[in-house]
Amino acid sequence: MRYIKLRDLEVSRIGLGAMGMSHGYTGAGTDEAESIRTVHRALELGVTLIDTAEIYGPYTNEELLGRALKGHRDQVVLATKFGLIAHAGAGPWNLDSSPNNIRTSVEGSLKRLGTDHIDLYYQHRVDPDTPIEETVGVLSELVEQGKIRTIGLSEAGPETIRRAHAVHPITAVQSEYSLWTRGLEERVLPLLRELRIGLVPFSPLGRGFLTGKIRSTEGFAEDDFRHDNPRFTGENFQRNLRIADEVQTVAAEAGATPAQVALAWLLAQGDDIAPIPGTKRVSRVEENTAADAVQLTDEQLAKLAGLPPASGDTHTEAALRMLER
Ligand SMILES: NC(=O)c1ccc[n+]([C@@H]2O[C@H](COP(=O)([O-])OP(=O)(O)OC[C@H]3O[C@@H](n4cnc5c(N)ncnc54)[C@H](OP(=O)(O)O)[C@@H]3O)[C@@H](O)[C@H]2O)c1
Repeated sequence: MRYIKLRDLEVSRIGLGAMGMSHGYTGAGTDEAESIRTVHRALELGVTLIDTAEIYGPYTNEELLGRALKGHRDQVVLATKFGLIAHAGAGPWNLDSSPNNIRTSVEGSLKRLGTDHIDLYYQHRVDPDTPIEETVGVLSELVEQGKIRTIGLSEAGPETIRRAHAVHPITAVQSEYSLWTRGLEERVLPLLRELRIGLVPFSPLGRGFLTGKIRSTEGFAEDDFRHDNPRFTGENFQRNLRIADEVQTVAAEAGATPAQVALAWLLAQGDDIAPIPGTKRVSRVEENTAADAVQLTDEQLAKLAGLPPASGDTHTEAALRMLER
């Protein structure tokens, strides 16, 4: 495994997204033992960056990681997120990045994760009711107190990133970025490079779609959140299959799997980018981590860059409203 720096924070080039172990996808929460083995295998393979959030579950994903990381804390660059639970008021799935809410969130995350510090603490979504300066101001205090080491933002737009960074250096922005979701290339990525902020692409496998393993949504559990995702619905889903097929063609040529090709393409976009593919299975963490060794030719990269655009939005309308572009 090779390592890169997100600003000054050293991380493995490929991280591990833990969300799907407890939340969102079919099978979440069903096999804790395999999830914990997956975390341990990731660490053996040199993965350091592990990603969670208080909203995953809510809370159960952080609790799971707390158990999995007992005795391993020093090997990990532990990242979690706040801002999607309004603790004093409306509860889960409500934006709240006010100072008091952050102070409550961080204590809960530290406790559940069984640690005295978080390495990378992200605002999960920008809160239009709290000026970003106030949010970053309180995060900066948490850095001074040693409760968090560095600060991140997720799905923030350029203006917010610039304002936040003026208050305290932002170490990383975590946003959706993959072969079929490239919206941040135009305005966000150049700004991150100007300000020397790292990029952590989430859903780098297109929520599993780019791996080519999903040919129908029939097998999804009822609560799988891809049921509502426009890219996985109706005609869009059928149209998008050709994207997965083309990734498969490049993979066959490269002697790799489609998941590895999707990750290798991201890695080829720069050494300030550390994707966090999500899985709850040992075999897949092995497959995904091995993408670090996959070298795509210029021709293969060009073919991937020229994939047809995806049909359908990346999120439901309600979720899209929370994104800043
Ligand atoms: N900041 C944000 O707002 C935000 C939003 C979404 C996600 N995230 C973070 O980003 C991480 C990754 O994103 P994601 O989990 O949404 O999407 P992803 O990494 O693109 O895809 C995960 C899905 O792909 C499957 N998968 C993984 N490796 C595979 C392989 N080699 N072959 C076939 N299928 C494979 C997983 O199933 P199995 O688990 O069954 O292997 C899971 O269903 C999350 O865990 C979370 O930490 C952040």
